[in-house]
Amino acid sequence: MKFFIDTANLEQIKEAQDMGILDGVTTNPSLMAKEGITGQENIMNHYRAICEIVDGDVSAEVISTDFEGMVKEGEALAAMNPKIVVKIPMIAEGVKAIKYFSNKGIKTNCTLIFSAGQALLAAKAGATYVSPFIGRLDDISTNGLQLIEQIRLIFDNYGYNTEILAASVRHAMHIIECAEIGADVMTGPLSAIKALLNHPLTDKGLAQFLADHAKGN
Ligand code: G3P
Repeated sequence: MKFFIDTANLEQIKEAQDMGILDGVTTNPSLMAKEGITGQENIMNHYRAICEIVDGDVSAEVISTDFEGMVKEGEALAAMNPKIVVKIPMIAEGVKAIKYFSNKGIKTNCTLIFSAGQALLAAKAGATYVSPFIGRLDDISTNGLQLIEQIRLIFDNYGYNTEILAASVRHAMHIIECAEIGADVMTGPLSAIKALLNHPLTDKGLAQFLADHAKGN
């Protein structure tokens, strides 16, 4: 499973990259705003900075909601760096834009996926990734992981190449369960990725090994 980090924070991206486990980055307008990155030029420069840190795909979201606007924005983003994946919302104009970019060989990530039907439409349009938001479904008492299972089944039934990018991941168990189901990618905060490290028996065992070593020296 590929690990993407869901942040626009350069220090966290660098930390994940330095761990050697990072396959890419996803951002969205809210994550950009959280880092205080505003204005088109600053946003573009921030994407450039992210691309310099990470070896892998960097999702950059369009703001337009009409086909022409998405195409204009997406082409400018894609021209900036080959790592850029144009992130497009799941709306009718977005599906058209995904088809357009797919025909041009430009990678896309269809975002704000909350149903299997939406994922199927995006795959038919040729999206590189679909991003079902599992945490936000859990937030409204709907099982986000069941949606990942449903999309996995549908994509496997027809051999769609579109990758399932489990998004809105909140914690370590989301990551583990997505891996069990067979999501191609997960994107989540650094805290969820680092939580995978933790086990008290590891800490206890290491402390014992070091203490025993110290006894012999
Ligand atoms: O980037 C999209 C998605 O991962 C958002 O997550 O935590 O805002 O629901 P969250």
